[in-house]
Amino acid sequence: RRICVLGVPLDLGASRRGVDMGPSAVRVAGLEARLESLGHQVTDGGNVAVEIAETRSTGDVHARFLNEIAETCSHTANAVIRALSDGMMPLVLGGDHSLAAGSVSGVAEFYRRRDQKIGVIWIDAHSDINTPQTSPSGNVHGMPLAALLGLGVDAGLAPLTGLLGYSPKIAPENTVLVGVRDIDAAERENLRRAGMTHVYTMRDIDERGMRAVMEEAIRAAGQGTAGYHVSLDMDWIDPEDAPGVGTPVRGGVTYREAHLAMEILADHGHLLSFEIVEVNPVIDEHNRTADLAVELACSAFGKKIL
Ligand code: ARG
Ligand code: MN
Ligand code: MN
Ligand code: MN
Repeated sequence: RRICVLGVPLDLGASRRGVDMGPSAVRVAGLEARLESLGHQVTDGGNVAVEIAETRSTGDVHARFLNEIAETCSHTANAVIRALSDGMMPLVLGGDHSLAAGSVSGVAEFYRRRDQKIGVIWIDAHSDINTPQTSPSGNVHGMPLAALLGLGVDAGLAPLTGLLGYSPKIAPENTVLVGVRDIDAAERENLRRAGMTHVYTMRDIDERGMRAVMEEAIRAAGQGTAGYHVSLDMDWIDPEDAPGVGTPVRGGVTYREAHLAMEILADHGHLLSFEIVEVNPVIDEHNRTADLAVELACSAFGKKIL
């Protein structure tokens, strides 16, 4: 497979600083060499342009740095479209999760031009479906899924997925949440309003097992679509194994469950693009969260034990 790595060193969407160093941490952990050792051809497309907090003012407290983030999302969308047009699979490194409004918009746009829909498998402790009205924090990394599904678009989120102006970019029946365990009260209402039915919480994983949950997730995301984008927020994994993340939440998936989920994704082969976000080396222990991100990418890209 031909893979194009794209870094998005963005931390304007989070209140804790440091995820802007995520792309660097994951590169340093050996991403390119490890994927090449699996037989893939990897090109690093460099980093997308971002602003830094020090040179900007926060703007509206309900969605801080929204304009700067929207600018980065639009660069990200274009970089993703370019990679896909060159026959490469985008592998996006974040950066805070707000960048997914751009990456997913890019993948959706590429396939829309070919009259096809895409699915999204959003793997996260959080549901990231706040709008500026419902967000308790004003952090835009809690809003990308709302923007993509067309919520909060008249409430100011439109620029996040601004590319060519149409909304929504993805359909709720092809959008799946896996591993959620920290949903704000108003987000629950937003999930309902958006028509999201494929929401798998940690309880589902505990009771039914990772295999059953991933098979169902893949079926929903793949139904009538060209395939799916996988957005992996590293806070999905328990902080025990992934301490270096923007917003850790205890009770996450284990190391083994995480690998299994990635292996199941690799088995199905409908992956259109992949991203790993919210790696924060500033609060990590010797880069182990970035190391884990590389390992998980290897499993998702077909690494086999035998
Ligand atoms: N729901 C919280 C908020 O809106 C936390 C969001 C965390 N999102 C993330 N991508 N880490 O602020
Ligand atoms: Mn997230
Ligand atoms: Mn999260
Ligand atoms: Mn399949």
